[in-house]
Amino acid sequence: MGESSNLALDFHNIDRAATSTEAVRFLDALNTTQQVQEMQRLTHRLLGACEGARILDAGCGVGEVTRELGALVGKTGRVTGVDLSENMVTEARRRTEDTGLPVDYHQGDIHQLDFPSESFDGCRASRVFIYLEDPRQGLSELLRLTRPGGAVVLFEPELDSWVLDGPDRNVVRKLVHFWADQLRNPWIGRRIPGLFRSLGVKELSITPVVGTWVLSMLETFGIYQVLEKAIQAGVATEQEVADWVHFMKEGERTGSFYGAMAGMVVRGIKPIP
Ligand SMILES: C[S@@+](CC[C@H](N)C(=O)[O-])C[C@H]1O[C@@H](n2cnc3c(N)ncnc32)[C@H](O)[C@@H]1O
Repeated sequence: MGESSNLALDFHNIDRAATSTEAVRFLDALNTTQQVQEMQRLTHRLLGACEGARILDAGCGVGEVTRELGALVGKTGRVTGVDLSENMVTEARRRTEDTGLPVDYHQGDIHQLDFPSESFDGCRASRVFIYLEDPRQGLSELLRLTRPGGAVVLFEPELDSWVLDGPDRNVVRKLVHFWADQLRNPWIGRRIPGLFRSLGVKELSITPVVGTWVLSMLETFGIYQVLEKAIQAGVATEQEVADWVHFMKEGERTGSFYGAMAGMVVRGIKPIP
């Protein structure tokens, strides 16, 4: 088994887990995939990002989406990116210099942000709630910051939903579940609609989405490290893991590998009192 980073699991405190370069490279690898770009564009539409809008991108990472939104809101709008990671905010600012975009970045924790209530027409977060200690508090904070009638849009993966083939279904199932359980909130996608409702949001649109992934992206997600951990935890034997890895690599070599994962894009409209 080859060496692989496991950054996908560590974004709840990425500055402690990885160098800035490693973390940035990981996000860039994901952001350049067509499926992620399509899902992000869907979130722009649902958010209603238009000329003059004030938008918050919470957990903005390197600010890829923040800048896309900046171009949509034009000179009369404003897009603010916040991220827990100082390294991410520094990189996002560096990439925005000289673009002339109406975008600014701040370091902050989504659980409690330093902006007045109703500062934004819309708030969004993508691939952030899987890492949060208290997703309900994070969503409550985004709703506080949104004006009545504005939208909060979240895009999150469903980690248990991996569609992967293997020589033994039971081995694949138990390893996929083990992998999902390495994250704080592997079922966050299916829970978001309930979280919105528990916070008084009734107007919801829920769009399930599916991304397809080649084996090298699973490697970027840190699959080999997780499988090693699964052996150590007694979840699978070395032989079971080796057989699955061999199966996937052969699949990739012969063109039969297929990997997919579901996610959810959920929009809630903040009620007008
Ligand atoms: C996988 S990245 C996604 C970045 C970006 N939203 C995207 O879709 O490309 C997750 C980001 O959430 C940030 N993050 C994690 N926990 C956070 C928190 N409590 N408050 C703010 N940002 C957080 C991480 O630092 C990281 O930049």
